[in-house]
Amino acid sequence: MRQGEFADDGPAPSLRAEIDALAPWFHNIDLNGIQTAPDHFLGNYPSDKFARFADAIPQDLSGKSVLDIGCNAGFYSVEMKRRGADRVLGIDSDERYLAQARLAARALGFTGIEFRQLDVYQVGALGERFDLVIFMGVLYHLRHPLLALDLIREHVAGDLMLFQTMQQGSDAIAEVPENHPFFLPGTYRKPGYFDDPGYPKMHFIERRYADDWTNWWAPNRAGSAAMLRAAGFAILANPEPEVFLCRAAPVPFADLGPAAVYPARGDAAA
Ligand SMILES: C[S@@+](CC[C@H](N)C(=O)[O-])C[C@H]1O[C@@H](n2cnc3c(N)ncnc32)[C@H](O)[C@@H]1O
Repeated sequence: MRQGEFADDGPAPSLRAEIDALAPWFHNIDLNGIQTAPDHFLGNYPSDKFARFADAIPQDLSGKSVLDIGCNAGFYSVEMKRRGADRVLGIDSDERYLAQARLAARALGFTGIEFRQLDVYQVGALGERFDLVIFMGVLYHLRHPLLALDLIREHVAGDLMLFQTMQQGSDAIAEVPENHPFFLPGTYRKPGYFDDPGYPKMHFIERRYADDWTNWWAPNRAGSAAMLRAAGFAILANPEPEVFLCRAAPVPFADLGPAAVYPARGDAAA
């Protein structure tokens, strides 16, 4: 059987027809000479983006396990398998993208990648930690971004995490106090540094962003870094302003209470 063909009895649809049937694609992947999203508004995405930080993660992942959260059409899952990862699991909340990922992996000959429908808020159900968690391009789509980071740290982060988010505002990083004063010492005036462009911030998006109603938050660079640290990730590298390589570290204030919360639901609400 050649790549891109089905094993069943009927006539095999051409790879082009399979790609078209799953359109539109967000990942532009070269599948045996066919581009899945040749007119992507971000150019050759994510290949060109990955090229800018590919050196930040280990070249050789043999013996390692990888969880790709919000894997979309599987570009990063495939790249991690290409680096020799033993186990790669790609999860996404959208079955349509998982179908693209399965087709892409099959067409490229990477049959050992598992793709499963799972929401990031459900990662606790996996019952497994991974040597590398990829959490790219998902945070700003979430209504509860810090909860997602807390759940990843609590349940699936075994060592490294590659993180990326859309950001807005300044790329500056301001010094912030260890303990914030309510007022400036000796006054009733609020400290002014909250308005510093480099203060950690999350910009809330009430309405649509780029025509997409699923975008809720845009941190600035300092905000991304601060949230990662607050969730228990030490930042090892920041190869692009919006890309962070992290390592699981102690969760701040863990001795004083849990980070993630698990809202209770009565039977009536199920
Ligand atoms: C902008 S794409 C990023 C794709 C890929 N990670 C990348 O960086 O190129 C966002 C992906 O996250 C998925 N996603 C959004 N919300 C999610 C959630 N709550 N749980 C899991 N995946 C989610 C979307 O279906 C989509 O495939």
